[in-house]
Amino acid sequence: MKSYPYQIQNWEEYQEQYARSVENPEDFWADIAQHFHWKKPWDKVLEWDFKTAKTEWFQGAELNITENCIDRHLQTQPDAVAILWESNNPDEPSVSYTYQQLQDKVNQLSHVLTNLGAKKGDRICIYMGMIPELAFAVLACARIGAIHSVIFGGFSAQSIADRIQDAQASVVITCDAAYRGNKTIGLKEIIDEALPQCPSIQKVLVYNRTHSPVSMIKDRDHWWHEEIEKVTQQGNPHFPAVPTQAEDELFILYTSGSTGKPKGVVHTTAGYMVWANYTFVNVFQYQPGQIHFCTADIGWITGHSYIVYGPLSAGATTLMFEGIPTWPDAGRFWEIVDKYKVDILYTAPTAIRSLMGFGLDPLNNKDLSSIKVLGTVGEPINEEAWNWYHQHIGKSKAPVVDTWWQTETGGIMISNLAGVTPAKPSFATYPLPGIQPVLVDENGNEIQGNNASGNLCIKFPWPGIIRTTYGDHQRCQQTYFSVYNNLYFTGDGCLRDENGMYRITGRVDDVLNVSGHRIGTAEVENAINMHAGVVESAVVGYPHDIKGQGIYAFVIFNAFHENEELTKKDILITVSKIIGPIAKPDKIQFVSGLPKTRSGKIMRRILRKIAEGELEQIGDTTTLLDPQVVEEIKRQALPPAFNT
Ligand code: WT7
Repeated sequence: MKSYPYQIQNWEEYQEQYARSVENPEDFWADIAQHFHWKKPWDKVLEWDFKTAKTEWFQGAELNITENCIDRHLQTQPDAVAILWESNNPDEPSVSYTYQQLQDKVNQLSHVLTNLGAKKGDRICIYMGMIPELAFAVLACARIGAIHSVIFGGFSAQSIADRIQDAQASVVITCDAAYRGNKTIGLKEIIDEALPQCPSIQKVLVYNRTHSPVSMIKDRDHWWHEEIEKVTQQGNPHFPAVPTQAEDELFILYTSGSTGKPKGVVHTTAGYMVWANYTFVNVFQYQPGQIHFCTADIGWITGHSYIVYGPLSAGATTLMFEGIPTWPDAGRFWEIVDKYKVDILYTAPTAIRSLMGFGLDPLNNKDLSSIKVLGTVGEPINEEAWNWYHQHIGKSKAPVVDTWWQTETGGIMISNLAGVTPAKPSFATYPLPGIQPVLVDENGNEIQGNNASGNLCIKFPWPGIIRTTYGDHQRCQQTYFSVYNNLYFTGDGCLRDENGMYRITGRVDDVLNVSGHRIGTAEVENAINMHAGVVESAVVGYPHDIKGQGIYAFVIFNAFHENEELTKKDILITVSKIIGPIAKPDKIQFVSGLPKTRSGKIMRRILRKIAEGELEQIGDTTTLLDPQVVEEIKRQALPPAFNT
């Protein structure tokens, strides 16, 4: 059923829409954008120049994204559920917010932020667990026109400090602590550790989730509930949404690249909104009343686009889950699906592989018959996991959408549309309308025709494209728009089959994808090198049965702490402190040297082969400065069998 005027319903319509989006992109997107709420219409649909990394969509328009995500639904469905929330603890009652209640919560918090001195254009850092208040915080920032920068809970104090400094944020919103499985993570304490390095921060707002003891610094730190109470006492006045321009910055999201420093990917308001909504409605084929369960954390782009902005702008019911898939047991997701009668489940291949490992017992007595659509995101999915998901979770009835996209793309780029366009295991399949993929060889020449492989680029802007890297536009231009002339370069390798379907094969740059988390090898090396005693290190990925990729570190060390084991632990602690637990190497091998060319460049290709256990396929090493070192590394290489 066509529940949205721009919801594609069959293969012919997809082809028509796709063709129109390429032939006449401005009219195509203007027709879709008219279904949103604008305070003032746009003057020009699209202005772009990849040479200078400039893209502007709907220039001249004025809007507030929260009026599109909340206010406009109040006329038609005030009592529809906007957010459903499931606690980490299966015994804690679930919570739900209708669109009317969401409006009230976001209004109140917008007042709180304003009372704390936050205003349009300010950067606000959000470091919270997966509770509804996190969604309120994101939306309240947007309502006052502030720019949110959500930081995933797995990042360390140092990473937070780097991000706050880069954005010059003035406010932090956090919790006393977060529950995750059987752990309680002291978020406020981690913030306190970061803040001495962050003079731009004026105020910290703390939500009390766990009743953990925290230090509240006078004048700087404020309790969420006390600030809300003040607003309530003033009679809960309405908070009129602050008008923003189409190209005003909506959020910054830091992500890793091939260099040591994470970059702040910037998305702006109008284009991102239209893209998140359009892709949500079409890929998942959402029908009003359905329950959409995206298991990502709002600390990543998936949570931004498919827990918050996509679903809410479509008036959908979005389910947020605080916990993890394997606690208290490996049936947690299936229990949630059963409890809420989930219609759409969107998760990562790493979660599927990990749950597959528990066999079918956790599925016993779980009614999964409500599932209509299954989705995967974040990394390539192997056929075995795809089939298991399709067969055991979707009962071979629910289509599986394999959605390829990136932090930089704002929303899904290449994916089948559930039940509308064909699926093929391990293939993201066809581009969405508006997306013009091309494959290029090393020299940047486009590879035409089917049965081809190359580096994946996009040759025309779409509404959700990255606008800049915060504070450093040149970096955006160089990273994405100057590797290949006049193309956006994704960093992914890709093949196109005989039917023109796309399969993403993985990163071709020095970026790892560990359990769907994006980590730069240079970042991990920098962190390892911070440890006293480390002379040099080289980090590569290797195939890991569950995480997709594991992290293998080759380390030259000159001052062991008692023994090798203790030294390895020291290195792991160092990486946790500098980046966060998500970047801890799975394997550390101490070496006396690294394979380098005569010009001093580390030969990662060789290290990758060793990490993959392909010791016989290393190839010619005679051009190395010291070929002997490879023999030594090979002799002491750690076994390739998976290792958590
Ligand atoms: C990288 C982007 C997209 C939101 C979550 C990750 C890989 C993503 C797929 C997929 C194969 C995929 C790519 C991409 N990736 N989805 N369906 N099939 N690979 O966002 O952290 O920005 O990472 O994830 O390598 O470049 P991200």
